[in-house]
Amino acid sequence: MQAVELVKMALAARENAYAPYSGILVGAALLTREGRIFSGVNVENVSYALTVCAERAAVLNAVSAGYRHFEALAVAWNKEGFCRPCGACRQVLYEFNPKMRIITADYSGEYQEQLLTALLPDAFGK
Ligand code: THU
Repeated sequence: MQAVELVKMALAARENAYAPYSGILVGAALLTREGRIFSGVNVENVSYALTVCAERAAVLNAVSAGYRHFEALAVAWNKEGFCRPCGACRQVLYEFNPKMRIITADYSGEYQEQLLTALLPDAFGK
């Protein structure tokens, strides 16, 4: 799948983000080996530390549906600059495919593509 299509899906998913505290709306689209796409959004909580990031929400969504082989993830937000996955999300993504394509986008759909190994070098792996 083309990166640009996955970015569009991440931007569409972002519409459902629940971020009343930060105002940072994040959407993710995760592509499986089988060609399925699972989306995720950030879900904030008044007890701030309980917030779940969009990327991890997408992974939980896919694994819950029985999918574990991930080829690519696109993540987009409502800000300028590319939406970089936080360290915790990088580690969770690494669990399933260190060579995953990570496509980071801004609010308008401009994007950059990198491999997860570049975003999380010398990682703790299984
Ligand atoms: N956020 C994500 O959804 N993904 C990341 O990788 C970084 C941060 C969310 C969490 C929180 O709702 C908001 O962005 C501000 O940190």
